[in-house]
Amino acid sequence: MKIVFYGAGNMASAIFIGMIENQVVEPSEIYLTSRSMQEKIKFFKENLGVNVSYDDTELLKDADYVILASKPQSFPSVASRIRPYLEPKTKVVSVMAGTQIKTVRRELKTENPIARIMPNTNAMVRHSVNGISYSSNFTDRDELIELMESFGTTVTVEEDEMHNITAATGSGSAFLYYIYEKYAESLMELGFDEEEAMFLTRNLVIGAGKMVEDSELSFSDLRKNITSKRGTTEAGLDALDGESLKKILITTLTAAASRSEELSQDEDE
Ligand SMILES: NC(=O)c1ccc[n+]([C@@H]2O[C@H](COP(=O)([O-])OP(=O)(O)OC[C@H]3O[C@@H](n4cnc5c(N)ncnc54)[C@H](OP(=O)(O)O)[C@@H]3O)[C@@H](O)[C@H]2O)c1
Repeated sequence: MKIVFYGAGNMASAIFIGMIENQVVEPSEIYLTSRSMQEKIKFFKENLGVNVSYDDTELLKDADYVILASKPQSFPSVASRIRPYLEPKTKVVSVMAGTQIKTVRRELKTENPIARIMPNTNAMVRHSVNGISYSSNFTDRDELIELMESFGTTVTVEEDEMHNITAATGSGSAFLYYIYEKYAESLMELGFDEEEAMFLTRNLVIGAGKMVEDSELSFSDLRKNITSKRGTTEAGLDALDGESLKKILITTLTAAASRSEELSQDEDE
């Protein structure tokens, strides 16, 4: 297999390192290119054994997949590199947030199969939740799903549902980090110093994450297991108004999904 990455930044490296570590591809099957020859890309070549090239003819010859992993604003320059050499058999996979399949098709002036992936930064620890949608002519989807599941899990969605996926999982980690941040700040109000508050919150989050991973129980059952009648947890939960919290979260997610929709409309103009 030959997989060519246009862009070797944070997201691309999380993806190809996941693929290599999970042995779904050999390093020799990965080709990287970026805008400029830089130390980072040389590092990947020397340490992982992947190929690096700035020759688009060589890169795109017999490519099975080309992964678009630049920032969306760099896509016109990436497209001008790819357009002349893209072969009909090559599947195009875009990880560019907010960039629609029809935009990729228009810029590349191609009828090739195109998939759009919305990963999140948890790809760096192989726990990305990847939203994925396809052009109607993208038929061989199982192979791509196997590649994408090397750095997380995959949910197939219609393209117009990408806004909700972007809010739920693309931005979702930031919402959870914000809650942890406020939790740590609240511990400081209780009297812990900053270092203690960070240490306690960090380990609480790691432990809760592992419980979620290892247990088959629902969030609600995990919570109930540590809530005894008239105990301390029940007292705390009584003070925490679940319905208000839910309203805040719905407002948060709706704002993020609406912004994603606005950004893709800007792109149409
Ligand atoms: N990071 C995330 O959490 C996340 C989540 C979901 C989706 N995404 C999407 O993933 C994409 C990449 O994000 P990132 O955070 O990885 O960005 P990044 O670290 O800035 O990397 C962008 C890469 O694109 C390369 N590039 C720019 N112009 C190019 C050109 N003309 N030809 C070839 N390569 C070119 C850059 O090369 P130079 O370094 O040489 O300029 C760099 O290697 C974005 O579209 C973003 O929307 C990111």
